[in-house]
Formats: sequence, C-alpha cells, structure tokens
Amino acid sequence: MSFDRSVKIAPSILSADFANFGAECEAVEAQGADWVHVDVMDGHFVPNITFGPATCKAIRPHIKGVMDVHLMISPVDAYIEAFADSGADVITAHVEAGAHVHRTLQAIRGAGAKAGIALNPGTPVESVDYLLDMVDLVCVMTVNPGFGGQKFIHSQVEKVRALRAMIGDRPIHIEIDGGVTPETAPLVVEAGADVLVAGSAVFKGGSVLNPAPYGENIRAIRAAVAG
Ligand code: DX5
Ligand code: ZN
Repeated sequence: MSFDRSVKIAPSILSADFANFGAECEAVEAQGADWVHVDVMDGHFVPNITFGPATCKAIRPHIKGVMDVHLMISPVDAYIEAFADSGADVITAHVEAGAHVHRTLQAIRGAGAKAGIALNPGTPVESVDYLLDMVDLVCVMTVNPGFGGQKFIHSQVEKVRALRAMIGDRPIHIEIDGGVTPETAPLVVEAGADVLVAGSAVFKGGSVLNPAPYGENIRAIRAAVAG
C-alpha cells in the first residue's frame, strides 16, 4: 500500500447486500472503487451490530485492493490480532473506544496492519495531537457512527481543515466517513481529505445483478471533486 494524497473512493459495504458480500465487493471494485470500507459494529460502542473478523476473512479474497476495516467496537485490543489475521490492510479504532488508544495503535502496527484512528463528531481534533506519529490514517466521522444513510454534519469540515494543518508533511491519510455525496465531497476534499467513504451514495440504485449504477455513483462523486 503506497502513500499518495489523490482522492480515493471507499464504498462502505454497510450499504451492500449482506447475503452477497463477496459478489458486492467484486462488483464495486469492477465499477471503480479504490478501497473497500468494512464497518464492524458491536452493539455496545455503537447502537448497531454488523459482523466480526470471520466475515472480514471470508470477504478478503473478493477484494483485490485495500480492505479498510473500521472498528466501531469497545474494547478493541483483544480483537486486533484476529482482524489483522483476516487480511485487513488498514485497521481503524476509535479514539473514544478506550482509555489506552496509544497502546491500541501500537498493537495494530505490531500486528502488521496500517493504523487508523477515528474521531466522533463531538471529539476535538486535538485528541490526536500526540498520536500523529503512530497513525497512517485519521478518520473524521461526519455522522454519528452506527448507521448508513445519515445526514452529513457540516461542522466537521473545519475539523478536517485543522487536521490537515496539523498533519503537515506526514504521510497520513484523512478519511471522511458519513453522508458523503457529490454535494458534500467537494467540501471535505477542499479542506484536505483524500479518502472518501460512501455507503448509500455508492450502492443506491444498483445490485450485484445490476452493478452499473455503482459505477455511475462513483463517477458522480469523482466528477464533483475533480479540478
Ligand atoms: C457509519 C459507518 C459508515 C457508513 C457510511 O457508522 O461508519 O461507513 O456506512 O454510510 P453513508 O455513506 O450512507 O453515510
Ligand atoms: Zn465506516
């Protein structure tokens, strides 16, 4: 996984057909996805449950590119090894998920994955001040985590701008997660984001039997941020 700041679209399979994850991952990559974003929820850190490391491992062979695993779970540390073993390229934990996030990030890198840290909308950007030398990605949540299809929270655009300034020349991705559409994507890219997670805006209107809308939706986001 090489580093660059070009805009990458990362469809979230939270909006895919849960009975067809393998085919959905293949379809969305064939339609132009750069990364595949995998949302793990525990019904404790967030009020929804999705799936765990066994599902990540099962879908891994169906993803050619980057498998970007977003852990919305607490506690985290006991599960890092299993998610790394599942073949995740990036493992992102929440800064709010436990008292020892520094240790969590060490464990993620120690397990051989790229380390990401996610911030809920109410969490100040300064919370990552002393973590920037240990992360490969900062995920700015632009909705409250737990569900797809929510409205983008505009106050987070200034957080992205502040984060971009803090990061400087460090090779750290800024990922946006929640409510990304052709309307909101340009706001965060202008502020410094490079990885755009999009669930409902990518998967709407399509299916594994009719995947062309995925491509149209991805191209609509790309066109909105181009130039
Ligand atoms: C929310 C998840 C997101 C979600 C995004 O908790 O982390 O990845 O799937 O969905 P949309 O793009 O529909 O807001
Ligand atoms: Zn996510």
